[in-house]
Amino acid sequence: MIKTTVKTLLNLKEKSEKIAMITGYDYISAYLAEKAGIHAILVGDSLGMVIKGENNTTNVTIEEIIYHSRAVSKGCSLPLIIADLPFMSYQINIEQALINASRCIQEGLAHAVKLEGGKELAPTIKKLITSGIPVFGHIGLKPQSINVTGGYQIQGQNNIEATELLDDAKALEEAGVSGIILELIPSKLAKKITESISIPTIGIGAGPYCDGQIQVWHDILGLYPNFVPKHTRQFVDLQSIINKALTNYIENVKNGQFPNDSEFIE
Ligand code: KIV
Repeated sequence: MIKTTVKTLLNLKEKSEKIAMITGYDYISAYLAEKAGIHAILVGDSLGMVIKGENNTTNVTIEEIIYHSRAVSKGCSLPLIIADLPFMSYQINIEQALINASRCIQEGLAHAVKLEGGKELAPTIKKLITSGIPVFGHIGLKPQSINVTGGYQIQGQNNIEATELLDDAKALEEAGVSGIILELIPSKLAKKITESISIPTIGIGAGPYCDGQIQVWHDILGLYPNFVPKHTRQFVDLQSIINKALTNYIENVKNGQFPNDSEFIE
């Protein structure tokens, strides 16, 4: 495996090779993801739900993203690390976005940032990129807007919404983003967007035609107890495996079989 940069992802799209991304929040998950050959790790604001146990992502802070991004950076050296700019850390003005994005690079040791939104963010994105910070876009379902949309509904299902999403993707490309996350949109629309732009599209709940896929760590490893989205596949049931190991450990402590003669110092 070679080190992934934003140029690597572009080359993969050009060669029609799929991009595999996953979220990651700590040292050990980054270490394991790199070992398995992942291209990029997103330090997602999904940490609000899967790490902090909140109902949504809106109260994640920039400090939390920086803390987790730094931990991820200690566990790997090859994947591209993308820090998710959390709710209200980039919307107020361009200066605020620049300060927070640069903190993700300098303190969080990330290589790029991601923000949710379309054409309205073009001036902010241009400023970040001209300052030396690669940016990823995120359109379709935007979890940070949950209080406006009232839920996690599929986006782009009618012609007006579909056209708007296509326009947003083109505006993000024009602004210079290195890739776009497409979340929870019909696969036909994802295909159209993917074919209409030259930068990679990374889907989550957007079907097979995207240039790559991203999934939440806890979802694909069977670790999140509250909800399994339709677009997820549990590649392993870690909850059951961990439960078995822990009950075994507790049993062995209780019945005196742990530690045994070789597991302590005389
Ligand atoms: O925060 C996150 O994990 C994300 C992915 C679901 C794309 O934005």
